[in-house]
Amino acid sequence: MSYLNTPITIKNLEIKNRLVLPPIATERSKKGTAGTALCQYYDHMTHGGHVGLVYIEHCYIRSDGKASPNQVSAAEDSMVHGLKNIADIVHRNGSRVILQLSHAGAMADPSTLDGPAISTVDADWRWSFWKLKKEPANVKGMTQADIEDIIQCYVDAAKRAKAAGYDGCEIHGAHGFLLNQFYSPLTNLRRDKYGRNDLASRIRFHLETILAVREAVGDDFIISLRFGAKDYIPAGSSLKDAVFASRAFEQAGVDLISVSGGMCGFTRPDYKGPGYFSDTAAAIKQAVSVPVILTGGITDSIEAEYFLREHKADMIGVARAMMKDPGWAGKTLSELG
Ligand SMILES: Cc1cc2nc3c(=O)[nH]c(=O)nc-3n(C[C@H](O)[C@H](O)[C@H](O)COP(=O)(O)O)c2cc1C
Repeated sequence: MSYLNTPITIKNLEIKNRLVLPPIATERSKKGTAGTALCQYYDHMTHGGHVGLVYIEHCYIRSDGKASPNQVSAAEDSMVHGLKNIADIVHRNGSRVILQLSHAGAMADPSTLDGPAISTVDADWRWSFWKLKKEPANVKGMTQADIEDIIQCYVDAAKRAKAAGYDGCEIHGAHGFLLNQFYSPLTNLRRDKYGRNDLASRIRFHLETILAVREAVGDDFIISLRFGAKDYIPAGSSLKDAVFASRAFEQAGVDLISVSGGMCGFTRPDYKGPGYFSDTAAAIKQAVSVPVILTGGITDSIEAEYFLREHKADMIGVARAMMKDPGWAGKTLSELG
């Protein structure tokens, strides 16, 4: 049997193979609802149930955390019904499913905001990996009460994911969004216990979020972390940071670490080859005992097999190749046998 076709069990969750459909924002929601267009999309993408583990795109946890106007919401109880329809479709097709939960922080789309965006400190910067925009943005530094409120929003959204029948939730801590703004030394300019003084402070917000979500959802619900492990930008987060932080995330209760980029986004500025985050994923895999997902630039079975065989990761995410060809999983896995 191929590496990719080998089952994996995370806690009590049996997953039939090592292939992951990572979160892909579709911009198909109206007013945050997971409606018919989104259900049809995920039915199409997961048809045949070939992918072991499917992530549903980033859903905002509070209305000031939207990355775009047509993003899906996990911020109100009224959204559970639509989110459940998607979970049911993916399960019926035969895959496991995790809902990604996000707050964009300073990266919130200005057209969706009534007031300032929130982030680490009051700022007139806007760091966007999409275009490296640096135009002024109205950003307010978070108070202790703001941080506690966001943690509660994560907790409430995770409970909604559980109520909607998902196998787990994913806390989005990558691609320059709110938690990543705390982790990265490029954007965390605070001087308090969540601040830039040391790495333990820069990940305190993550750890408090993970602990609170775990307490709320219980032991049998998977908590995944999308980790913007390294910025790949001078003076940004380093591999050493990534390893230290991953150990702490595991201790706090994450079941799965999905490695991606930080302030560089989901691609890497200096290297475009297959598995471009494999150096980081491999170092994290060595440091933790929970499974590690490697995503980025992988487009065929030879590449996927290589990274699993060489112990660079435990599971492989393939986003754009499966977006282009939703039949990719079925063809690739049956060819491998
Ligand atoms: C259109 C698009 C939307 C994406 N949306 C999300 C998202 O909602 N959450 C997330 O963590 N990553 C998101 N990503 C990043 C992907 O999950 C993945 O990391 C990236 O595409 C690199 O993998 P690939 O080379 O296999 O495509 C998105 C990527 C694309 C192209």
